[in-house]
Amino acid sequence: MRNEGIISASMMCEDLVHLTEDIRIFEEESMDYLHIDVMDGDFTPNLGLGVDYIRGLRGLTDIPLDLHLMIERPEEKYDWFGIRKNDIVTIHFESTVHIERAVEKLGSFGCKVFLAINPGTPVYSCEELLDSVDGISLLCVNPGFAGQPIVKGSFNKMKRLREFLDERGYGGLEVEVDGNISNENAGRMRELGADIFVAGSSSIFKKNGKTLRENIRSLRASIGAAGLPYSEC
Ligand code: DX5
Ligand code: ZN
Repeated sequence: MRNEGIISASMMCEDLVHLTEDIRIFEEESMDYLHIDVMDGDFTPNLGLGVDYIRGLRGLTDIPLDLHLMIERPEEKYDWFGIRKNDIVTIHFESTVHIERAVEKLGSFGCKVFLAINPGTPVYSCEELLDSVDGISLLCVNPGFAGQPIVKGSFNKMKRLREFLDERGYGGLEVEVDGNISNENAGRMRELGADIFVAGSSSIFKKNGKTLRENIRSLRASIGAAGLPYSEC
């Protein structure tokens, strides 16, 4: 089995007023990653968390970052982020003409290299890059905004992606799912072979009258309760 199910807190959904107390809760609850949506207003129609925010977070906690670079030509900007070896850095297949060169260059930073594909990008697009990445990030919403509903067909795409990887001998690659990953959707995605769950307004930051800590534990329970796909048994 690849892992126990990893949670990555989507910091675009974090209330900055509570940032330091929430980071303490993340540490106490063994939050695996902090998901940082870096957006340039060009690749995505939104401006997101920037380099000053990332630098500030680094000073508050040692929780590794899951840097989701939703930016054009990311290979020109890697040095901006203070990438560490225990970070995940995700670049989009759609974000640069020479994606193979961008992936190889990112590998030189020693971090985990993930390739993201948007809802409209076919699973097979990642075929030529499987030897150069540590994982695939499946966007289940069109990137840029929290609070969106999951794109229809995302579950079927997750199933096809896991089959695609297994058939080619890349079953060890991790798959992250990003976008409207509610407790229910996380459980379903786990059963279809997802490993890392971006937790935003649909789950841990949900305004449901529960505490952040309660929502984190509830999401973990939903993932843990899900059965693993047959290939994992
Ligand atoms: C989407 C963002 C995610 C996520 C936010 O571009 O990358 O962080 O959607 O969480 P939700 O979808 O639950 O509000
Ligand atoms: Zn993201």
